[in-house]
Amino acid sequence: AHPRDLAGRRVVVSAGGTREAIDPVRFIGNSSSGKQGVALARAAVARGADVVLVGANLAQPPSGVGTFVSVVSTAELRDAVRSAAQEADVVVMAAAVADFRPVHVPDAKIKKVAGQAPAPIELVENPDILRELATERLRPGQVVVGFAAETGDADGDVLTHGRAKARRKGADLVVVNAVGGGRAFGTDENDVTIVDGAGEVVETASGSKELVADVVWDAVVKRLTR
Ligand code: PMT
Repeated sequence: AHPRDLAGRRVVVSAGGTREAIDPVRFIGNSSSGKQGVALARAAVARGADVVLVGANLAQPPSGVGTFVSVVSTAELRDAVRSAAQEADVVVMAAAVADFRPVHVPDAKIKKVAGQAPAPIELVENPDILRELATERLRPGQVVVGFAAETGDADGDVLTHGRAKARRKGADLVVVNAVGGGRAFGTDENDVTIVDGAGEVVETASGSKELVADVVWDAVVKRLTR
């Protein structure tokens, strides 16, 4: 790692898992703890960056992450990330974003009715925040980084899916991590392959989420042109 090689840079990191309301007390969510995103934000602060961390449903407000913005839903995450991204040199989307949300959210709690089958929950697709950022480039020269959470038995499977996702999303770098079976979500360690927008392998890293964060920033720094 290069000390203070992000000095004078503005970066935005998203972390945690978004929640989509089903009714006033229930939601669709995921088990992202936010640890990987928090580690990225802290590492960027240590390297001298001006950091905004947008955290979705973190267990507690993290320290040492720069400016912290707390959000719940994908719509809120999108607004907060896009507003901070206007001024940013780098955006890293480490948050686990819900791909779908319920179409109708009743004001009252959904009731169980004896003898009746449950009503199906109709879903609509959420905007793809990463793809929007990669397409629009809210600031010229901005480096856009995504993650790809892929399930798969062989590491080869995970990488194949991750490379395809990298080509689809248009980001400069995609950090591919194997998930499922107790991997990555909520753990202290991660095992990643970083690929570029063409799906070519740039770097691999395995160890603490702090170590992975520094390897991601190393790869980002090489892409900062202005
Ligand atoms: O939080 P931890 O417990 O530390 O776990 C870390 C992690 C496993 C959550 C993290 O390393 C990770 O992989 N984050 C991305 C999870 C995810 O949503 O992956 P995805 O493959 O579904 O999405 C691909 C990329 O598109 C991600 O950068 C995601 O932020 C982004 N996305 C997805 C859907 C959507 N509607 N908008 C998005 O921007």
